[in-house]
Amino acid sequence: MTELGFVHKFAPAPAGSSLTLLLLHGTGGTESDLLHLGRELSQGAALLSPRGRVLENGMPRFFKRLALGVFDMQDLTDQTHALAGFVGGASKAYGFRPDGVVAVGYSNGANIAGSTLILHPGTLAGAVLVRPMVPFMPETLPDLSGRPILILAGTRDALVPREESERLAGLLERAGAGVTLRWAEATHSITGGEVAAARAWLSAKFPEG
Ligand code: MLT
Repeated sequence: MTELGFVHKFAPAPAGSSLTLLLLHGTGGTESDLLHLGRELSQGAALLSPRGRVLENGMPRFFKRLALGVFDMQDLTDQTHALAGFVGGASKAYGFRPDGVVAVGYSNGANIAGSTLILHPGTLAGAVLVRPMVPFMPETLPDLSGRPILILAGTRDALVPREESERLAGLLERAGAGVTLRWAEATHSITGGEVAAARAWLSAKFPEG
């Protein structure tokens, strides 16, 4: 589907669950990449999976970057607004509850999920952020009270230094979110143990899924 501003896939909730996982792929990914992971994380949730609209050497991303880990702030802001609009439009088009959307973002996808939490705190009920960075430091903190957020960080991640994960956890905590920062002996890639931990975390925080 290309309507609603993003090429995307949508899988309805198999048994009418009110939870929708917003799947956000990493650099070079597509709207198909995380569908399997999404279903592993929740048997019952609807899955909404857009493709990032920016191309970097042919690789889809959710926003432009100037160098590794250096983000184009204007594009990040514009794309974040567009993504929030897409989620709202998809909720109306597909009939899922707008207050039951939990992001599952990997790397670049985790970074736009973080930016969405800051700029559109009402869009996401929670988030699983896999190998995220701090998208930017806001001048004013968003109100994320009561939003559960799981950060999956790798001790051997060459792209995201330890302090970066801790800085993001601190920022989200100051905004009122209930943050779980989980460390795995892992690189930038997600491990099977982390998938199992994320599944358990989701079913504890969002039992309706
Ligand atoms: C980003 O650009 O969002 C981060 O560097 C993660 C990545 O996509 O490599």
